[in-house]
Amino acid sequence: MSTYQEFIQQNEDRDGVRFSWNLWPSSRLEATRLVVPVSCLFTPLKERPDLPPVQYEPVLCSRANCKAVLNPLCQVDFRAKIWACNFCFQRNPFPPSYAGISEANQPAELMPQFSTIEYIVQRGTPAPLIFLYVVDTCLEEEDLQALKESLQMSLSLLPPNALVGLITFGRMVQVHELSCEGIAKSYVFRGTKDLSAKQIQEMLGLSKPMASGQFLQPVHRVDMNLTDLLGELQRDPWPVPQGKRPLRSTGVALSVAVGLLEGTFPNTGARVMLFIGGPPTQGPGMVVGDELKTPIRSWHDIQKDNARHLKKATKYYEALANRSAVNGHSIDIYACALDQTGLLEMKCLSNLTGGHIVMGDSFNTSLFKQTFQRVFSKDYNGDFRMAFGGVLEVKTSRELKVCGAIGPCVSLNAKGSSVSENVSERTFNINAGGKKHIFADPTTTFLSKIFECHNAPVPQGGRGAVQFVTQYQHSNTQRRIRVTTIARNWADAQSQIQHIESSFDQEAAAVLMARLGVFRAESEEGPDVLRWLDRQLIRLCQKFGQFNKDDPTSFKLSESLSLYPQFMFHMRRSPFLQVFNNSPDESSYYRHHFVRQDLTQSLIMIQPILYSYSFYGPPEPVLLDSSSILPDRILLMDTFFQLVIFHGETIAQWRKAGYQEMAEYENFKQLLQAPLDDAQEILQTRFPMPRYVDTEHGGSQARFLLSKVNPSQTHNNLYAWGQETGAPILTDDVSLQVFMDHLKKLAVSSSA
Ligand SMILES: *[C@@H]1O[C@H](CO)[C@@H](O)[C@H](O)[C@H]1NC(C)=O
Ligand SMILES: *[C@@H]1O[C@H](CO)[C@@H](O)[C@H](O)[C@H]1NC(C)=O
Ligand SMILES: *[C@@H]1O[C@H](CO)[C@@H](O)[C@H](O)[C@H]1NC(C)=O
Ligand SMILES: *[C@@H]1O[C@H](CO)[C@@H](O)[C@H](O)[C@H]1NC(C)=O
Ligand SMILES: *[C@@H]1O[C@H](CO)[C@@H](O)[C@H](O)[C@H]1NC(C)=O
Ligand SMILES: [Zn+2]
Repeated sequence: MSTYQEFIQQNEDRDGVRFSWNLWPSSRLEATRLVVPVSCLFTPLKERPDLPPVQYEPVLCSRANCKAVLNPLCQVDFRAKIWACNFCFQRNPFPPSYAGISEANQPAELMPQFSTIEYIVQRGTPAPLIFLYVVDTCLEEEDLQALKESLQMSLSLLPPNALVGLITFGRMVQVHELSCEGIAKSYVFRGTKDLSAKQIQEMLGLSKPMASGQFLQPVHRVDMNLTDLLGELQRDPWPVPQGKRPLRSTGVALSVAVGLLEGTFPNTGARVMLFIGGPPTQGPGMVVGDELKTPIRSWHDIQKDNARHLKKATKYYEALANRSAVNGHSIDIYACALDQTGLLEMKCLSNLTGGHIVMGDSFNTSLFKQTFQRVFSKDYNGDFRMAFGGVLEVKTSRELKVCGAIGPCVSLNAKGSSVSENVSERTFNINAGGKKHIFADPTTTFLSKIFECHNAPVPQGGRGAVQFVTQYQHSNTQRRIRVTTIARNWADAQSQIQHIESSFDQEAAAVLMARLGVFRAESEEGPDVLRWLDRQLIRLCQKFGQFNKDDPTSFKLSESLSLYPQFMFHMRRSPFLQVFNNSPDESSYYRHHFVRQDLTQSLIMIQPILYSYSFYGPPEPVLLDSSSILPDRILLMDTFFQLVIFHGETIAQWRKAGYQEMAEYENFKQLLQAPLDDAQEILQTRFPMPRYVDTEHGGSQARFLLSKVNPSQTHNNLYAWGQETGAPILTDDVSLQVFMDHLKKLAVSSSA
């Protein structure tokens, strides 16, 4: 068992890949019977400090419709200086520069430890990075002040030669000229009129040579002036009558931003950074009218088909997102407000372009300030953790085809031998294609790929292979290509089912199935998605469980599947599938992050981590269960989006009585401090920064904890509740125990 775990870990560390199955079934029928599809989580640009890039071009297979990259799985004839492509079996001569190769003198890309390798393919004069700030001025004074300070601070974090620009908007949209001497000039657009890219470019005079210079200037030239300009920004001057919302022209502002970049720097790495404090209320892309008595759409309205602007606004932003994506420009949304801001309609801007979404209550919070600062964090090399204009191609050996991907990407609609013709099955109908555009922020971008096994006879004892080829613009502006080539053995699902079972990666599978569920939830009703997940779980248990028919007590799962049902239990209760406790914006936000985080973070989102602190020993992880809530414990719960510190009843009383201030209770002081220190460590690295909640037994914020723990002590079995057995949870959902009992019954049932 430990060998598979080591293998999985090693593969993740080296190649950024986790497969649901690490042995692949050799027939398509058997593959569908495994329930969980052969699929993987892939981080295209996983940070690899130990992997210095090589300074030459990759060697490609000469067959026109293959072009796979030379890799350690290729067979090489050193004497004849020929290599055989492991994807199409084409025999290729090495290029002249490889004349010196021999068994003893091999290039890096042939060595097994370089299953992932990165090539720097173009030096020359690099294009600068571009940052275009698009700032809502319909903010409260406090928010505007705080935002201005954050923006001013960010100028010092940009590379000096980066280009910056500023667009502000309220009722009108202003594009600020940064080159004029002395006076700050700006171009004004009405917020109600939809303009084409051409109109925008004409109005800004972008057809003249060098015109972009007015709007996008190197930071080192304008940082003083831009700092002043930001400092002088005022709230939108138009009066807002009683009972009205401010008129906010977010749609036109974004259209101008996209048009400006499209006209000046197509196919160059750029980030549009949108800062909003409320919903778009006029013009194209409007999400709600300006009458306060008409509230912004809720899940209820959407379900009743009563959300007037939803479809039109979504379509408007999607078209803008498409245009940005094609040009390699990404769009971030920083939304800080107590009410909804229209993330549901606008999320595709970030989703399709690889941009960030950050949601908070106010710009004057450390959640926003620190998260925003982290956008500019640097890697081990001192380079920004950003990449631009990525294109990911997936090549597969003949027996495999790509069915689709879930993640921040748009399909380039490539048709090739690696692309499945059969993408009609709904589950997999996701931007069908083997070629994908991916954008910005490589470190947190996970693509979930779904493969279809077996379109050709599998060679006896052979291996299936997949090659990921990611081309992108590094934040230091170099063009680079990263190539990851992996292989797995084929197995006959009839005779080797136990081997296949032990190759199951239940963590990866849980995340992959959860993502498929979230993907379905975007277009299907919640209960249908839950039923689908349940059905898959029951089928998996029927396939791999050991049991006597109709005897639930005999049911057992092997070690490689033992945790899987529990993940599904927590997934069913998670905000990714249960939307009615959240606003549509919140659901969009949670889902956005869920489909792009790495496996570890995704698992935390599915099943939060709970640590317990007490006088009886060092802090320890405890069950995410109401029985872990005890009077003399402090709990630290990490849900990814929240960090909750919960003081048990006795601890809370002692804290209120101020024992921690007394010299003789130094150890109590230390106990209180320990979870704070641990929380601090998480707060310092996570992106986006989590909401921090400090609460106690009976506190109103205790609901954050109570809604996550397994309600093992509900009113159904309250009789078991004593002083020492934890806190009861009043809830209608079933406990893990009830869920498992039910699952076993269904799995062993001969009628199911
Ligand atoms: C931001 O919040 C802090 C702490 O709550 C407060 O002291 C400060 O005055 C606020 N900033 C503005 C501009 O109101
Ligand atoms: C920057 O501002 C100063 C005065 O504040 C002005 O003299 C200078 O021309 C401005 N430079 C640019 C590039 O706008
Ligand atoms: C955006 O692009 C996708 C894929 O190319 C396409 O299906 C969709 O219709 C486009 N949306 C809009 C609003 O243009
Ligand atoms: C496509 O998938 C469906 C459902 O899995 C299957 O029944 C069908 O045979 C497949 N078609 C082809 C051409 O492979
Ligand atoms: C991303 O955008 C696409 C296209 O609008 C949509 O189908 C998909 O569900 C979105 N994903 C998320 C997690 O919002
Ligand atoms: Zn080939």
